[in-house]
Amino acid sequence: MDMVTNEKLYEIAEEARANAYAPFSKYHVGAALLTADGKVYTGVNIENSSYGATICAERTAFAKAISEGEREFVKIAISAGDVESTPCGICRQFMYEFAPEIEVITKADGKLRIRKLCQLLPDGFVLDQ
Ligand code: THU
Repeated sequence: MDMVTNEKLYEIAEEARANAYAPFSKYHVGAALLTADGKVYTGVNIENSSYGATICAERTAFAKAISEGEREFVKIAISAGDVESTPCGICRQFMYEFAPEIEVITKADGKLRIRKLCQLLPDGFVLDQ
């Protein structure tokens, strides 16, 4: 199976962004998450009048994939349009649970930027019991 390129995955995130629900911040985010077997799950930020109930695009994509039984992830692209949008702290920890090695693709100054989640969240929490 052909691996989805970073460029293509970012494009999918950018397209998904059109469905963001962000009437409060007006900051529209799209994400595209690639699984180990080549499937792509998209996500958008979904805001709420009770602001704390808002969910970010990254967590939406993960929630969709996890709830379909997916457990192995390769990369996630995040688009907020012309500005670079790196994952918030909650999303970093949320994704770390499933994929500490996942590649996180953002775009800054027209160029893709690729880093591993474990670089963005060193020493992330894992419940060890
Ligand atoms: N947001 C995301 O969707 N992903 C991020 O990584 C950062 C922030 C959303 C949450 C909120 O709806 C809006 O962007 C402004 O914070």
